[in-house]
Amino acid sequence: CMKRKWWMSAVGYQIYPRTYFDSNNDGIGDLKGIIQKLDYIHELGVNLIWIGPFYKSPMDDNGYDVSDFFDVDPVFGTLDDARQLIAEAHKRDIKVVLDLVLNHTSDEHAWFMESRSSVDNPKRDYYIWQKGKVDQDGTLLPPNNWGSFFEGSAWNYDEQTNEYYMKIFSNKMPDLNWDNPKLREEMYHVARYWLDLGVDGFRVDAIAHLARDLSFEDSPLPLTIHGVAPDWSKFSNRPELFTYINEFHDKVLSQYDCMTVGEVGGGAKLEAGLGYAAYDARAFNMAFNFDHCWEVNRVLDPETNKMKNVTRVKDLKRIFNYWIEGMNQKGWLPQYWLNHDHPRVISQYGDPVHYHRESGSMLGSVLLTLPGTPFIYNGEEIGMTNVDYTDVNDFNDVWVKNNVKKLLEHDTMENVMDQLRRTSRDNARTPMQWSSAPYAGFSKVKPVQKEISNYTEINVEKQLSESNSILKAYQKLIHLRRFSEYSDVLVFGQFELVQAEHEDVFAYDRYNENKRVRIIANFRPFTVKFDTPEGKIIFTNYERDYSVGLELKPFEVIIIELKHD
Ligand code: GLC
Ligand code: CA
Repeated sequence: CMKRKWWMSAVGYQIYPRTYFDSNNDGIGDLKGIIQKLDYIHELGVNLIWIGPFYKSPMDDNGYDVSDFFDVDPVFGTLDDARQLIAEAHKRDIKVVLDLVLNHTSDEHAWFMESRSSVDNPKRDYYIWQKGKVDQDGTLLPPNNWGSFFEGSAWNYDEQTNEYYMKIFSNKMPDLNWDNPKLREEMYHVARYWLDLGVDGFRVDAIAHLARDLSFEDSPLPLTIHGVAPDWSKFSNRPELFTYINEFHDKVLSQYDCMTVGEVGGGAKLEAGLGYAAYDARAFNMAFNFDHCWEVNRVLDPETNKMKNVTRVKDLKRIFNYWIEGMNQKGWLPQYWLNHDHPRVISQYGDPVHYHRESGSMLGSVLLTLPGTPFIYNGEEIGMTNVDYTDVNDFNDVWVKNNVKKLLEHDTMENVMDQLRRTSRDNARTPMQWSSAPYAGFSKVKPVQKEISNYTEINVEKQLSESNSILKAYQKLIHLRRFSEYSDVLVFGQFELVQAEHEDVFAYDRYNENKRVRIIANFRPFTVKFDTPEGKIIFTNYERDYSVGLELKPFEVIIIELKHD
C-alpha cells in the first residue's frame, strides 16, 4: 500500500549534461556548468534533478556507453566536481538522481576487454557470447535474425574468439549478462558506490532489457530494410528480469532512502508496469513508459493523402488515463512530456510558430497537474523547439549516424531531413538557450551540438524578464504544486477525465475530501467550445475576464477550483 514519500511531492528536472552549460568553454557542457546554474534551477522551483550519465565514456552514445562506472569523464569534470555538485544541490534542498546504466557497458570497459580476450576468460560470462551460423555457401552469419535499436543485427562479430556478442544498442555497447550472479553483484556495487557518495537515487536506464530469450531462436517477424527482425519481445519485459530487479531492490535499494525511476520504454503494458513499480513489487518506485511520446500527432490528410501534424487529443487522453487508472492505489507514476530521446513537446503537441507562449504554458500546466511526479526536461521550461538543421551532418545522434545512409537509399534527402527534424533524438539535445549571446550563451566557442537559430528569441534571460513568459508560467505552476493550498490535491488527489470524448480539449479533475480542481486545456490552435464551469480561477495563460461558458482561445488553459460538494 502507499506510504507518503518525499519523492512523491517532488518536482523533477532532467539535465542533459553535454549541452546544459559549458563552464570552461571547450564546447561541451560539464558538471561545473551545472553547479553554476543551480541557483537558476532552484528559482525555477524544482527540488529533484536527474542528471544524464557523466561516467567515463568514449561517447559513442553520449555517455550511455560507460567505460568506467567509478569515475567522471574528463569532458564533464572530476569526481570532486561530482561531490561538489551533490553538496551544492543539497544545500539548496535539491535531490540528485543519477542515470544508472545496467544493461550494457562500452566495448572499451575493462570487463569487456577481458571478456573478449578468450572463451575461458573469467569475465567471458559477463557478456553474452554465441557462435555464428554458417549458411550453405559457408558464409558466417549472426546467431539469429534479431535486430538492434541502433544498427542492424543485435549481434556483432568479434575476431579474437570467432564469436558474436550481443548488443541491442550500438556495436560499441555490448550487453551485460544479468543471468550471471557475479555480474549482478558487480552492478550492485556500482549502485552502492554512488549512493554512498551521496546521490539520492537513480533513473535506471533501459531496464526492460535485462533478460533475453535464452533459446536465441530466430524471430518469425518480417525483416526490415536492414535484413533483421525488429522483434523487441526477444529482449524486453521478460519475466526473468523481475527476479533480478527484486534482488537489486532487496540487496541495495531497500537499504537506502533513495528514489528510483526505471526507464521501461515502449511495449510495456500495465502488467509489466506493476511489476516494475507497484508499491509492493520490491522493484522501483516509478517507471517511465513511452506511450504518449510516440506520435500521437499524425493523421492522414484525406485531401493530399499524406500524413500531417494534428494532435490526436482523444488518443493522448486515453493513454494518460490508461496508466493513471491502472496504477491508481497500486503504484506511483512519473509524468513527463519528453526526455533526451524524444522530440521537443512544443513542436509535437504545441505550435512554436504561432502560439509559442500559449502552447508552451498550456503543456506545462498539464504536466504539473497530472497525478504522479512530474519531470521537466531542460529547455522545456522556455519552450525550446525541434531543430532547424538544413544539413544532415548537423545531426549527431548515433542512430542517425548509423542509419542515414540506409534511409537515403530508400528515400529522398528532403524526406529524410523532414523525418529527422520531426523525430530525431538530436531535437532535444541542442545547447540550452540561456541568452541571445552567440551560441545561445551556452559556451563561448562552437558547441559539440549545433544550436538552434531561434535562441535570439527563445532564451532564459528574455523569459526571466517577461512577466507572462513560459518560464514564469512554469515557476508559478511548480509553486502551485509544491507550496500552495492546492498542493495536497494536486499531488495526492484522485484523477478523473472530464468530457473524455471531447476532440480538442484535455480536461480533468483532481479532487480529495476538501477540494476539486479542474484543469481545462485546449490543444488546438483555434477557438474551441467547452462547458467552462463556475469557480475560482487559479491559473490561466490568457489575461482576460473569466465567465461561465466562455470559449477557449487557442491553446488556452484554465485551472479552476470548483465548489466542493
Ligand atoms: C536509454 C537512454 C538512451 C540510450 C539507451 C541506451 O534509452 O535514454 O539515451 O541511448 O538507453 O543506453
Ligand atoms: Ca566544458
